[in-house]
Amino acid sequence: MELPFAESYKIKMVEAIRKSTRKERELWIRDAMYNVFNLSSRQVYIDLLTDSGTGAMSDLQWSAIMQGDESYAGASSYYRLKEVIREITGFRYFLPTHQGRAAENVLFSVLVKEGDIVPGNSHFDTTKGHIEFRKATAVDCTIEEAFDTEAEHPFKGNIDLGKLESVLTSMPREKIPFVIVTITCNSSGGQPVSMENLRAVHKMASRYNIPVVFDAARFAENAWFIKQREMLYRDTDIRDIAREMFTFADAMTMSSKKDGIVNIGGFIGFRDEELYKKASVYNIMFEGYITYGGMSGRDMNALAQGLIEATEFSYLQTRINQVAWLGNRLREFGVPVLQPFGGHAIFVDAKKFLPQIPKEEFIAQTLVVELYKEAGVRSSEIGTLLADRDPVSGENRYPEMELLRLAVPRRVYTNNHMDFVAVALNNIYERREDIRKGYKIIREAPIMRHFTVELEKA
Ligand code: F0G
Repeated sequence: MELPFAESYKIKMVEAIRKSTRKERELWIRDAMYNVFNLSSRQVYIDLLTDSGTGAMSDLQWSAIMQGDESYAGASSYYRLKEVIREITGFRYFLPTHQGRAAENVLFSVLVKEGDIVPGNSHFDTTKGHIEFRKATAVDCTIEEAFDTEAEHPFKGNIDLGKLESVLTSMPREKIPFVIVTITCNSSGGQPVSMENLRAVHKMASRYNIPVVFDAARFAENAWFIKQREMLYRDTDIRDIAREMFTFADAMTMSSKKDGIVNIGGFIGFRDEELYKKASVYNIMFEGYITYGGMSGRDMNALAQGLIEATEFSYLQTRINQVAWLGNRLREFGVPVLQPFGGHAIFVDAKKFLPQIPKEEFIAQTLVVELYKEAGVRSSEIGTLLADRDPVSGENRYPEMELLRLAVPRRVYTNNHMDFVAVALNNIYERREDIRKGYKIIREAPIMRHFTVELEKA
């Protein structure tokens, strides 16, 4: 008999989590204005709000923490991290930041100006936020297959080269500061970008003398998918794949809270010393001196070790298999999920789940609230709330997909927890026709409203 798959780690420390009653949850979510960001974590049983900063660190990371060097300038922890980043990404220069959006803030302060266009593959909301905040425009060039939740394409994060070329030719060179490629592409469902596409995007951008920036938050998961799905790389080591991926970028922003497996942190990687020097000025202003930039020495140590672990085959196999486990359970129940499964999360197609809810009543958010009430499982909305209003017209932007995201923290939950979540969603699926109404907004922020929006029943 073939030996079954099992996790590549064992558990050394545990944290208690608490179940609640449906009655309690109904009150709590009402008090939270039907926004799960307003819930206390104590009101949540299984927390799949995000895979960002929620992972479990290893024994080696915790011991690296004890060896952190907290010198203001030139800490050994900085040099340790610099060495690991160079080994894994090939970037010679780097700036630490306190998280991914801070890396965007610093880099875009140098590169993005009013009236610019930044093409990319379904820019993440903070990326788009930092572009629009500077009165520039993010143009989505993701392949069309990405918007069909059932299309079986191996690399739904890919950039459509035709779309990209038409953006690059429609604007003067100086209006396009860079092309951004998000690996894996969170907003299109945690979908990977192929090496072939990364190579082609870089080649095309180079022809127009435009740099390529990677939003590399989940680069290791992307490398895993390249190994699985791109024949040429079947026998290539994950780290070699990652290094090759980064040869097609001129700079990178990183949220270390994902594939760095730390609770806080980020960085920017640069090939060009001049750009690094320009960005250093903003780093010092917004984040901190260039050798710590918003991170403590101990956190830089933990990140250096986390990057090593995140690019190990056995870790990635455990990680991606667990996400697929959840996806397979849901698929067996007939719950409509985005396929193929993403690297960090399973996305439920809320439009197919609740076709009776009008888009004006926030379809995916309605399902997020239902799942919380059903089982105390916290998920997130990737739909109209997240899409914000059009900055020019002020109208709601209705995205093609309304998704409920089940983001799986790294090394935190067991497959029994995944089964629990799947059954909870199936219970709702069985009574889906009884859900007749969605929500309406009472209060919202002008940008990135989903974090703080207040809702009431429609
Ligand atoms: N880029 C991507 C692709 C992301 O997914 C995120 C964060 C960021 C940038 C910003 O990084 O949070 O460290 O400032 N994504 C989290 C999520 C919040 O839940 O998907 P950050």
